[in-house]
Amino acid sequence: MDTTLEKIKTLRSQLNEHNYRYYVLNAPLISDMDFDLMMRELQELENQYPQYADPNSPTQRVGSDINKSFKQVVHKYPMLSLSNTYTVEEVSDFYTRVEESLNTAFQIVGELKYDGTSISLTYVDGKLVRAVTRGDGTQGDDVTDNVKTIRSLPLQLRGSGYPREFEIRGEVLMPWNVFERLNQEREAQEEPLFANPRNAASGTLKLQNSSVVASRQLDAYLYYLLGDDLPSDSHYENLQAARSWGFKISDAMRRLNSLNEINDFIRFWDVNRKTLPVATDGIVFKVDSLLQQKNLGYTAKSPRWAIAYKFQAERAETRLNYVSYQVGRTGAVTPVANLDPVLLSGTTVKRASLHNADIIESLDLHIGDMVYVEKGGEIIPKIVGVNTEARFMIGEKVRFISRCPEPECNTPLVRYEGEAAYYCPNETGCPPQIKGRIEHFISRRAMNIEGIGTETVDLFFRLGIVKNIADLYTLEVSQIARLERLGEKSARNIVDSVANSVTVPFERVLFALGIRFVGETTAKKLAYAFKNIDALKNATEEELVAVDEIGDKIAQSVIRYFKDEHNLEQLERLKQYGLQFEISPEQLSLHTDRLQGATIVISGTFIHHSREEYKSLIERHGGKNTSSISGKTCYLLAGSNMGPAKLEKARKLGIQIISEDEFLKMIES
Ligand code: IVH
Repeated sequence: MDTTLEKIKTLRSQLNEHNYRYYVLNAPLISDMDFDLMMRELQELENQYPQYADPNSPTQRVGSDINKSFKQVVHKYPMLSLSNTYTVEEVSDFYTRVEESLNTAFQIVGELKYDGTSISLTYVDGKLVRAVTRGDGTQGDDVTDNVKTIRSLPLQLRGSGYPREFEIRGEVLMPWNVFERLNQEREAQEEPLFANPRNAASGTLKLQNSSVVASRQLDAYLYYLLGDDLPSDSHYENLQAARSWGFKISDAMRRLNSLNEINDFIRFWDVNRKTLPVATDGIVFKVDSLLQQKNLGYTAKSPRWAIAYKFQAERAETRLNYVSYQVGRTGAVTPVANLDPVLLSGTTVKRASLHNADIIESLDLHIGDMVYVEKGGEIIPKIVGVNTEARFMIGEKVRFISRCPEPECNTPLVRYEGEAAYYCPNETGCPPQIKGRIEHFISRRAMNIEGIGTETVDLFFRLGIVKNIADLYTLEVSQIARLERLGEKSARNIVDSVANSVTVPFERVLFALGIRFVGETTAKKLAYAFKNIDALKNATEEELVAVDEIGDKIAQSVIRYFKDEHNLEQLERLKQYGLQFEISPEQLSLHTDRLQGATIVISGTFIHHSREEYKSLIERHGGKNTSSISGKTCYLLAGSNMGPAKLEKARKLGIQIISEDEFLKMIES
């Protein structure tokens, strides 16, 4: 073997080992810095010798910024759910049912029920080949690239004795500390918060950009092995084997031999789960023997050989003092219950979410009521009921407000069809909406203006210095250096940063404007499709929906935006201040329509560019990259070592197979 390849292989296996020790065993042998140095060395070798690329190399865990929609994959074995129980008695009923059906000795395995999002992984010849979400249980999204960024999952198995092909299922989780940090960042960016780590984990897995997924530090616990030739008839033993192959298997798993042991297990974890680094919402009990599992079988929705026992959400009773209302950037109005402080799962709760008008109505809430507050997996506590027996004197009935709660606004609220929330429609005159839009405009992914946080926006707005996004460009050092908490240095920083923002490319300016439903990806699509703001302004609904992935809802919102006088005035001002309102010639020269409308599948390994680079080349030239071959595929971009099955399929469908060189010729000017 060539010495470079040997070096690459050694580095890969060392990095895999260190990864495992760090993320699975929690017992690193080398410093983070040494790890990074090794990783960098490997990355450099792989860049230099692309012929040795390997999709399962440890360098591939960093993700890519290529956008793609997920391929649907049908589960080989459907992903069922478990029937839930809430009391020890119901668990005991389950035990008796199993006992009577089997009529022979059996063991139960007790496990924690992890509260994340479930995933099914397929391994072939010891390599991770596919990761699919639960979806509807029958088919789910192929999220392999995103899952590869989870450091505690082996891309290449360790040890021996694993079946040639098998599936393993488990839960992808966001640890509490990562979740809290993420929400703090989101709060600072005025992005909507995740209600709990489960939503954060599933939201993260569905992100289009796997490098963002990598930054979110997900973890995964595995709890179910499926396949034709598993090592043992025992579920417990199989998971022990899986542990030896490098998977993270919970240490909480126990074999239990009686109802007494089951009850002890419940009592123990009811208390001790609070010390775990990840969220759990119950316990799962499974019959250990696979043969016995088979005999017990399934109902339509869930196995008869397993049951979930759900932990009681923690609940407290306290007094409702008043209801306040908050207006967000989009104008949505959220009701908040203000309570007598009460201790709940270790924190003092003073405020709780009331969700929407319908929920207030169904609770028949009155001021002064004693209410039940719950904090389940949610970070924001919620009101779940009223103790009507404690209602000695009835207070005023809580009615959802009909006008905007902002004193300066007071506009009648509206409710859009199909939505539970009420909105303040006064987009251009309602202070929290304006401030929210200013904060969005300056945020990192938009104009990236530094030195201005929520409080400074508030201050500038209060003083009337910045009443809309265009006013930012009129700020002067002398004028703001005198203000409270600012000084010469931060004032200069703000003004410089505002000045620098005029070089921000058009697609980000378009995102920064905060047009409803126009997120980062949509802004990019629109920017390249229309090239400048005037063309976009004059676009008809038909022209807008003709753009890939732009639907009616977005099209109508864009049209509405450009109809508004305030917006047009503001755009004129921003143009005068020198912001980018068209795609630059450099950006444009990188984009052509040579592959316009062509769907291209990439397969194999390449010499001139990496697969990721080919993906972005396809997109840059107006083509679309998909991962599987179908009747819609126009070209198969084939490298070396391509799977024979793919080649066969492409031939059968009469798809044109092109080499790297042919592809590069196609996009050449
Ligand atoms: S076993 C056929 N074990 O709970 C049974 N599930 O309602 C397969 N879950 O979708 C599931 N921890 O996402 C199993 N230790 C555990 C679990 C677990 C969490 C989740 C899983 C599943 C849901 C069942």
